Amino acid sequence: MIKGRMYVNGEWTGDSLDTIDVLNPATGEQVGTIPNGGKEEARAAIEAAHQAFPEWAALTALERANYLMKWHDLILENKDEIAEILTKEMGKPLAEAKGEIVYSASFISWFAEEGKRVYGRTVPASSPNKRIHVQKQPVGVVASITPWNFPAGMITRKMAPALAAGCTFVAKPAELTPLTAIKLVELCEEAGFPKGVVNLVMGDAKAIGEEMTSNENVRKLTFTGSTAVGKLLMKQSAERMLNVSLELGGHAPMIICDDADLDKAVDGVIASKFRNAGQTCVCGNRIFVQEAIVDAFLAKLKEKTQTLKVGNGLEEGVHIGPLIEKKGYDKVKKHVEDAVEKGAKVIIGGEGAEEGNAYFYQPTILTNISDDMLVMNEETFGPVAPIQTFKTDEEVIAKANNTRYGLAAYFFTENYSRGMKLSEKLEYGIVGWNDGVPAVAQAPFGGMKESGLGREGGQEGMEAFLETKFLSIGL
Ligand code: SIN
Repeated sequence: MIKGRMYVNGEWTGDSLDTIDVLNPATGEQVGTIPNGGKEEARAAIEAAHQAFPEWAALTALERANYLMKWHDLILENKDEIAEILTKEMGKPLAEAKGEIVYSASFISWFAEEGKRVYGRTVPASSPNKRIHVQKQPVGVVASITPWNFPAGMITRKMAPALAAGCTFVAKPAELTPLTAIKLVELCEEAGFPKGVVNLVMGDAKAIGEEMTSNENVRKLTFTGSTAVGKLLMKQSAERMLNVSLELGGHAPMIICDDADLDKAVDGVIASKFRNAGQTCVCGNRIFVQEAIVDAFLAKLKEKTQTLKVGNGLEEGVHIGPLIEKKGYDKVKKHVEDAVEKGAKVIIGGEGAEEGNAYFYQPTILTNISDDMLVMNEETFGPVAPIQTFKTDEEVIAKANNTRYGLAAYFFTENYSRGMKLSEKLEYGIVGWNDGVPAVAQAPFGGMKESGLGREGGQEGMEAFLETKFLSIGL
């Protein structure tokens, strides 16, 4: 049992508050408790970050990179322990959890280096006695709200560039999965970050979110989560023009063309759709297969899918863990039932299992899919692959883009000219061509339309934490 605490101004706090239980979604057993913090705790953390900002921002990028690299190395040294905590509170299989820890550390090492390349520029002036400089400066205190599906990766993808840029940080992890975040912050302490540079609060999401958006000392809000909550935070932030980055929901199309390498396509669909039990905002949600190859594709997909084992992620050989909670399980069930009622055929799966407070769902493939089904209109957030066929590229592009979301899209073709045309027409921030898992630290991750604002990762991910200042000098 882990007794989690908040971290404010270099002190572990929150012992006097009520607690929230943290449960293992694979067993329903309690794995820890956290303090139920709120406005007051968020305010104290923001104040600590505000006080720490000038000194942190004044360090050289190299000095900040040294702290970040110590943190990075400690995370990798403690990879197995953190991964086990992650699996116990979130459910994903241990091998996947270890992969997430390595992924989360990759943001830290990449941004530690990128921080050294925050360049300004000089611009030719309009008169001989003037000079123009463009400078980049850290935005200030950053508040972050992160989700339960990637308890490590979503924090470091925000925190590493923010710290490297010279910002100080207040993190609020999801109440369902705070223990990984606590461990990561313990390692920040061990890495020696100065007091107040990194702060961690948790508890009442609404109260903490309101403080983060209304407190004048917060200069940037960075959020990953649902589109509904993103819109709410954006409305709250509009009041004082708070700079926001929002990484929100998706409804990704996966297009399998008749000239695809079928093995690549099947592997790509399995990786995208069943990773994290389908609980990722970038996972394929609508699969479109060109008519001529649908039988061959389905046969291969079914063959591989039936080898996937569902169970407790701590057990050897498990590929798909539980869904995080009953609400998510009920949604997946409802989507499959709705599809079947409207005529869908279950090729494999289609069954859930409730074991006490633990909720598992079989990897599921559905065909005979019509456009009015819930699976074609909402993010399922579960291991369900609805398959539709298409005839022409024009038809499939229109279908793929027919959504208010625009986070990730995928297509499989071995034809370069066809692939370039498809990629140009897809209205998505991330496009995987013969690639079901494209995200990496050095590339921009984020969505168009209602999938969000801004990008994380890559140069764009650093820019999100910088202000641009135009300096005009009269000589
Ligand atoms: C997400 O879908 O929530 C993040 C996935 C990733 O970083 O690969």
